[in-house]
Amino acid sequence: MNITSAEFVISNSDYKKCPETHMPEYAFIGRSNVGKSSLINMLTAKNDLAKTSSKPGKTLLINHFLINNSWYLVDLPGYGFASISKEMRSKLKGIIEGYLLFRPQLTNVFVLVDSRHEPQTIDVEFMQWMGEHEIPFAIIFTKADKLSQAKIQVNLSKYKEVLLETWETLPKYFVSSSEKRQGKEDILAYIEEINSSL
Ligand code: GTP
Ligand code: MG
Repeated sequence: MNITSAEFVISNSDYKKCPETHMPEYAFIGRSNVGKSSLINMLTAKNDLAKTSSKPGKTLLINHFLINNSWYLVDLPGYGFASISKEMRSKLKGIIEGYLLFRPQLTNVFVLVDSRHEPQTIDVEFMQWMGEHEIPFAIIFTKADKLSQAKIQVNLSKYKEVLLETWETLPKYFVSSSEKRQGKEDILAYIEEINSSL
């Protein structure tokens, strides 16, 4: 699939104020700094569409980007951000959970995990929570440019092992690098496949 237009529409702290259209939405979630906003820029080939930062905690709202005038990419705040107040943490949790639980247009979530790390409890528990609420998701292993092919395979195997302790079948997964534009075709083809099945 080609992305011919990608435009920022609106930022919200409340899912109830998100666009009143009925187009399918694909949201990006994961730990702060895992590369959600960078991935949106890579997929749309627009470097400054979503705001990114080397410091965690850049995206703090629900951001809607209209793609090809027919569906949305949605950038969400990250979770697991250590250096914030309790109040802020609980506010972000409310924003994220409100959107994920109550947004009927939400079609698929991409849960991003850093391909450099061993499975982290916070991510595995988050996927568990998604499963309990029957929210469909795929996994994207990010920042693949930062490690060797061999190491990626080792980390993927460990991840699969941990997931198979709780999941009967593994979710669909992708390996990406926003630096090297890796994973773009496969992720967009997956979105296109879902869009055409709706
Ligand atoms: P929050 O909005 O804070 O939750 O973070 P985020 O998940 O949106 O991360 P963001 O896209 O802002 O990227 C965080 C940092 O990681 C930035 O410095 C990016 O340049 C870097 N980064 C993101 N993706 C990649 C990648 O594929 N490879 C490399 N090498 N760096 C990346
Ligand atoms: Mg972000």
